[in-house]
Amino acid sequence: MVNQPGHESRQEVEGFEARLKSLVSKLSEKKKILLLSGKDFWRTQPLPELNVGSLKTTDGPNGARGEFFTDGTPAALFPCGISLAATWNADLLHQVGSTLAKEAKAKQAQVLLAPTVCLHRSPLGGRNFESFSEDPVLTGKLAAAYISGLQGGGVAATIKHFVANEQETIRMQINSVVEERALRELYLKPFEIAIRDADPWALMSSYNLINGLHADMNPFTLRKVLREEWKYKGAVISDWGGTNSTVESVKAGCDLEMPGPAKLRGGALKAALDRGDVTIQDIDESVERLLRLLHRTGRFEAPVEEPKEKTLDTEETRRLIRKAGVEGITLLKNDDKVLPLGPEVKKIALIGPNVKRAIAGGGGSASLKPYYNTTPYESISAVSGREVLFAQGAQIDKWLPLASNICKTPSGQPGVVLEFFKGDKFGDSPLIVQTRAKTDLFLWDSAPIEVLPAYSFKVKTTIVPETTGEHQFGFQSVGPGRLFVDKQLLIDNWNWTEAGEAMFEASVEVVASIHLAAGVPVEILVESTNETRPAGKPGALSHGYGGCRIGYRESPTIDLIQEAVDIASQADAAIVIVGLDAEWESEGYDRQTMDLPKDGSQDRLVSAIAKANKRTIVVNQSGSPVTMPWAREVPAILQAWYQGQEAGNALADILFGNESPSGKLPVTFPKRLEDNPAYHNWPGENKRVIYGEGIYIGYKHYERLALDALFPFGHGLSYTQFHYGEAKISGSVLDGSNSLTVSVPVTNKGQVSGQETVQLYIRDVKSRLPRPEKELQGFSKLNLGPGETQVATIIINKYSVGYYDTSVPGWVAEAGDFEAIIGSSSADPRGVVSFRVEESFNWTF
Ligand code: BGC
Repeated sequence: MVNQPGHESRQEVEGFEARLKSLVSKLSEKKKILLLSGKDFWRTQPLPELNVGSLKTTDGPNGARGEFFTDGTPAALFPCGISLAATWNADLLHQVGSTLAKEAKAKQAQVLLAPTVCLHRSPLGGRNFESFSEDPVLTGKLAAAYISGLQGGGVAATIKHFVANEQETIRMQINSVVEERALRELYLKPFEIAIRDADPWALMSSYNLINGLHADMNPFTLRKVLREEWKYKGAVISDWGGTNSTVESVKAGCDLEMPGPAKLRGGALKAALDRGDVTIQDIDESVERLLRLLHRTGRFEAPVEEPKEKTLDTEETRRLIRKAGVEGITLLKNDDKVLPLGPEVKKIALIGPNVKRAIAGGGGSASLKPYYNTTPYESISAVSGREVLFAQGAQIDKWLPLASNICKTPSGQPGVVLEFFKGDKFGDSPLIVQTRAKTDLFLWDSAPIEVLPAYSFKVKTTIVPETTGEHQFGFQSVGPGRLFVDKQLLIDNWNWTEAGEAMFEASVEVVASIHLAAGVPVEILVESTNETRPAGKPGALSHGYGGCRIGYRESPTIDLIQEAVDIASQADAAIVIVGLDAEWESEGYDRQTMDLPKDGSQDRLVSAIAKANKRTIVVNQSGSPVTMPWAREVPAILQAWYQGQEAGNALADILFGNESPSGKLPVTFPKRLEDNPAYHNWPGENKRVIYGEGIYIGYKHYERLALDALFPFGHGLSYTQFHYGEAKISGSVLDGSNSLTVSVPVTNKGQVSGQETVQLYIRDVKSRLPRPEKELQGFSKLNLGPGETQVATIIINKYSVGYYDTSVPGWVAEAGDFEAIIGSSSADPRGVVSFRVEESFNWTF
């Protein structure tokens, strides 16, 4: 019988579990060993003896990218993790999950490498954008909804990265030193909630060490907590290149080494088995869990992979992405109701480096090639129907803009010709020739297998300068590389010695100028190899993959700020779109400062525009907080995150009042970087980072210190006003088996429909161990028409009151009084109800 992934009856599941041992016994020892490492970069080994196909995995949290890291098959690009979290809408995340299942299937993948549930310790975390929040309960509950949606569609979630992986700086070697209580109450918590509520079929171990041992070989986190206490039966997959041992990782229960083919398993695992360092029972346990994953995702009786990745650009998905975008946009400030922009605003100045660019997602494995993009410029022009003026206003680029914007191949196509040669010496004729659209040639997973392991490559293209002047080229390469302009060597990066941030392992960008004349074509040639440079980042992913990035900029001819001020003063309103982008915020590195790039130019721009036009609205696109020295100078601020392919449309919907904003901050926006909880311990030293702030991250830290934030956790305004009635609780005593319901009526007092997220925080009035002022334990989003009242209900149980006491050891609900505080944000309480725990009690999971 062909099983229906995600819709199996209990009998079918039990039937499979009963057969599992006998299935394992049908595999030879050799085959079992083979199964414990990937077949290639994204797939597991097929098992023809069981009529079972390979699993194909794909990144990542905000879409299903398919096989190629850059320039792959187009896919739906959803808002990034923090933008989804800002919706505080679990039903919506469930829908996002089910749509992602369809997207993954279109890419012939059965395993999505998502969601990312690491917490925001510092505003500088490079992957904050792709994870949800600083709060473990918000993160865990939203992750559970996303996972249920995804797995309901038959595609496995791979919740990641387990655990204490809150930074990118030397991520493969950093030892996260975390006290057990903080580990339990914060960093393990989202995994615990998601496993209890949604049972993700796979989990990815992280790159870092946790208290001295790498995550893939850590018996405390993987064996004791995950398997013994939480009874997790899913498969553990190492992060890509994050298997750090042969014996210890198998013994700890890391089931699959990725990517394949085997590096630390295969022959090494066979030798360990022969020596008796690993037993066949150890291997069988992992084989069982991988077979379970194959079964759950429908690979039994599906021996052959459909080769072709497909696109699935439907109207329904477009609408869902736009809705998710709208609900994530967070209105931080709106003095004198300058927003939404009414019909009296006839002429709009659209200013900023992000106006005509699609800032749709952060960088690294979460990135993909979207079906399409919507820029603020196009969407605002279309949705508003008003007169729109534009000025760029500031430079934002971390590296020179990609040269591909104006590159043409010899046959006149946009892009470059990429020639691959076997061996590191180029040679007379290339083995494989490709055309690529972009000049960020990240060849991590896309160098042709025929030229591996050692290859050289040439990039050839032509550009036609638009102006005459001293123009700049920027070049960075993973291996040795050099760039020629019209056969003249302009940048020699062959023996580079300074590691940069692009492409996980590349050099810094080397910039050189050359005089070029408008309209005269110039030929660009790059030569490079995939040899690993000795100066590469310590412990970086040394796959020997090769790659390069070519940037280009013509010398500036105008004063950007003055041009912007000129149009702002002619317009009825100025919208300044500032922020970061996928180069500033990415997997692979952390941000260096909380300030908007580059060199203060965006901040100077906002202040200048605020002076030129009283109705200045700032829209900030970033995946984590930025400093806003101009926050008092402007009447309105919208936080717009990275919102995927519908980013422009969602923003336009909010600006012109087609929709009322309902996003709430999933992270605190501090006033200054120095205020953040991890400030003294970031990003660590000598390969150790101490989580010295313990259980106090995010609002728990700011509240404990009574430190004012710029915008507090949970904050977000609407175009309407909500009135909270009296909060009630269904009982006065909580014990280990009951639950209590807290309810509060909320009325929309304004003229337009709107949504409000009611937040519930628990305060332990008196406890033996120190605890945060309060902790988020539930939330409920209401959709209210003008004048309408609805009652928000939030259920609490033992998990809502527990703290972790290592002297027990275990979770403790301590006898005494508790308060359930209802708030419109962490700093805006609207009601309190009390209850008691009569007798202390403990639990493990
Ligand atoms: C990332 C993972 C990702 C994997 C595959 C790693 O570098 O940390 O999140 O799923 O690559 O792209």
